[in-house]
Amino acid sequence: MTMRTVIITDKATGKTVECPVHEGRYGAPVVDLKNLYKDLGVFTFDPGYGSTAACRSGITYLDGEEGVLMHRGYSIEHLAEKSTFLEVAYLLINGELPNQQQFDEWVHVIKMHGMTHEHLSRFYQGFRYDAHPMSMLSSVVASVASYYHNTTDIYNPEHRRLTAQRVIAKMPSLVSKIYRYGSGLPFVYPDNSRNYVENFSYMMFSWPTEPYIANPVAIRALDLLFILHADHEQNASTSTVRLAGSAETNPYACIAAGVATLWGKAHGGANEAVIDMLTEIGDPKNIQKFVDRAKNKDDNFRLMGFGHRVYKNYDPRAKIIRQACHDLLNEMHLNQPLFDIAMELERIALEDDYFISRKLYPNVDFYSGLIYQALNIPTNMFTPMFALARSAGWIAQWMEMLADPDFRIGRPRQLYIGAEKRDYVGIADRK
Ligand SMILES: CC(C)(COP(=O)(O)OP(=O)(O)OC[C@H]1O[C@@H](n2cnc3c(N)ncnc32)[C@H](O)[C@@H]1OP(=O)(O)O)[C@@H](O)C(=O)NCCC(=O)NCCS
Repeated sequence: MTMRTVIITDKATGKTVECPVHEGRYGAPVVDLKNLYKDLGVFTFDPGYGSTAACRSGITYLDGEEGVLMHRGYSIEHLAEKSTFLEVAYLLINGELPNQQQFDEWVHVIKMHGMTHEHLSRFYQGFRYDAHPMSMLSSVVASVASYYHNTTDIYNPEHRRLTAQRVIAKMPSLVSKIYRYGSGLPFVYPDNSRNYVENFSYMMFSWPTEPYIANPVAIRALDLLFILHADHEQNASTSTVRLAGSAETNPYACIAAGVATLWGKAHGGANEAVIDMLTEIGDPKNIQKFVDRAKNKDDNFRLMGFGHRVYKNYDPRAKIIRQACHDLLNEMHLNQPLFDIAMELERIALEDDYFISRKLYPNVDFYSGLIYQALNIPTNMFTPMFALARSAGWIAQWMEMLADPDFRIGRPRQLYIGAEKRDYVGIADRK
């Protein structure tokens, strides 16, 4: 079979380049433009990287047209139904589901790394009581680097594995301390008799004077949210982690860079923005007003939790989470007026031509905030929870990048549109 190629001709110079087309397992094939500049003297221009595959990856596949998401070949629906977050984290990192012995070892090792250095707890005291949790999280994650000087040789696979274990193990402690600090509560050490998610819940919510009894329905809902957020291909924060990592920087600093990117409301911050929006809507009778604002091009308001760069169909995670939200509210006998507003908003938007024609569907963040809220997690902690889960994907992608023989520093080019060359004029002679 002859290899598929794409021929690019520069009509101005008559030069032609024949670019190989690589087929992945699934998804659109990619045109290899590595030699474009060498052969034609031009760069590609793709703002927002909408048509650019920045790397090879075997971790996650998503088909935005069909609404498909798979990790290592397993559908998100199956993982959400049958797996646990810690098992999914193992899968992302190692490529295969663990057998029982491997899983027991994994759980053990994660428990063993769950503590953070006692000094690190003092970093929190430097923040104002009302600091945004994502600002605290990016700082404390980066600060973990200061404790592991001898085990962050990024070219040593053993060090990489150890770093991955530490990141996944310590995130619950790092995140819970943010909440405890902001609430004026003492920090809680991990309790290794509890599983990963229950332990996180214990570190967040236990009261110093009372025994902590976890609600299994809430723990399962949290575990599900963590599974759904664990990885999502080459999104903005993951690409940031890869780009930072490509400069051979410290891995904890790479994760901190991912946290910083996730903070944005076009990305992980959307779950918080959804709750703010639903609260502002306040009553189903006000929905149409907000839908009209979202459609008005003179108003920069967007419906939060709607739309996605890649999904042009229902986000498969949103489908799972919508049902989970429904079940959780029923099982916990909670009356959640915002959920009713969300359902109605979804109905109205999905019948509106503006949203239909642009293929704008609810994304995972549309419902995740409602679950967090039902679990009494304060709004400003939603994105740190997302970061906790996504750190599994970040570190898996970072490891994959470093193991790739084609790995080199990421360095995009640009189309320069600035001033022409000109002479420096002394300040006294400037107009
Ligand atoms: C996610 C998001 C950033 C994707 O952006 P994108 O891929 O660059 O999409 P675009 O900005 O090109 O949007 C395409 C069109 O849909 C419109 N649109 C996109 N999201 C919209 C929203 N949430 N509400 C109203 N209109 C929206 C755009 O205005 C644009 O309209 P136009 O073609 O008339 O100019 C964007 O949909 C968004 O801001 N959503 C809300 C925030 C959110 O939920 N983020 C979480 C993502 S998981």
